[in-house]
Amino acid sequence: MGKKLILPGGSGFLGESLATFLQEKGYELVILTRGASTERNGIRYIHWDGKTLDEWASEIDGSHAIVNFTGKSVNCIYTAKNQAEIFSSRVDSVRALTKAILQCQEPPQAFVQAGSLAIYGDTRDLCDENAPHGDGFSVQVCERWEDTFFETELEMTRKVLLRIGFALGNTGGALEPLVKLVKLNLGGTVGSGNQYISWLHIDDLNEMFLRAIENEQMSGIYNATGPTPATNKEFMQTLRKVMKKGWAPPTPSPFVWLGAYTVMQTDPGLALTGRNCIPRKLLDEGFSFIHTDLEKSLWELLKDGWHPQKKDSPS
Ligand SMILES: NC(=O)c1ccc[n+]([C@@H]2O[C@H](COP(=O)([O-])OP(=O)(O)OC[C@H]3O[C@@H](n4cnc5c(N)ncnc54)[C@H](OP(=O)(O)O)[C@@H]3O)[C@@H](O)[C@H]2O)c1
Repeated sequence: MGKKLILPGGSGFLGESLATFLQEKGYELVILTRGASTERNGIRYIHWDGKTLDEWASEIDGSHAIVNFTGKSVNCIYTAKNQAEIFSSRVDSVRALTKAILQCQEPPQAFVQAGSLAIYGDTRDLCDENAPHGDGFSVQVCERWEDTFFETELEMTRKVLLRIGFALGNTGGALEPLVKLVKLNLGGTVGSGNQYISWLHIDDLNEMFLRAIENEQMSGIYNATGPTPATNKEFMQTLRKVMKKGWAPPTPSPFVWLGAYTVMQTDPGLALTGRNCIPRKLLDEGFSFIHTDLEKSLWELLKDGWHPQKKDSPS
């Protein structure tokens, strides 16, 4: 058996991709899920509720590392109930995992946390890790999430938080609704089109997680995004080109608001806001990207069609 890794919330878009990637590298994978405990494709799924210390905690003892993906999807309408769950699912899972690590005889050597570039708010200024935080609900979520992650000192466990950008994959994530719009010939510029999409290919993100797990020099906060952000206008143009669709009408902001609430059932801010981020620390530390060209990345991901993730967990 290879080194054991624990992926809380690893049943989702990012976690499933990372689990497959790491399994091929010989690691033993355990996913913590609110679904039933089971085994599938050589991966053990262990039930937890994402907040209470319970039997699942024994899996942490003696494990090599934890990568926490837990969190209610932000792709929803921000009702008070949804906002509360977006907060609590992130903060409660980090607290429960921290408690589990503290009671280990043999604690994991690394605790890696999936965070978000949303902490920089809506800005066209270039953001590296030292850029100021923005404001609004998403920023507050990220700040509370990060503060909770770093608040407790863990003597034996290195902590790394990856502020993840717009991860491009062909099984789900943020690209999925955009692909749907383009298929319907509705993939024009969204809002002003000047908002940035800080994108990265999921293969590069998986390499970043592997590095965070294994590289003892890595510690603290990193922007986990590609080096070539694009404006929404550039991104949509490129996506239409790759999907062999011609011009599509732009969607002015009021229509984005209307369409987000009525058709897409999501918060319009996800499409209308953006940030222009670069992975300064990763570049300085010698990380080399496989994918830096947007058109090639989209083409490579979409050439064999869309492969939506099959999920049987309760989220
Ligand atoms: N995808 C991106 O491009 C991106 C970008 C920036 C940040 N992130 C962050 O990275 C993390 C993983 O992203 P993802 O795209 O893989 O998300 P995802 O597909 O929604 O997966 C997240 C997992 O969290 C668990 N979960 C959902 N609601 C929960 C709740 N209320 N309480 C406890 N667990 C809950 C679910 O697992 P079970 O149902 O099995 O329990 C779900 O599979 C998220 O925190 C997300 O905000 C993602």
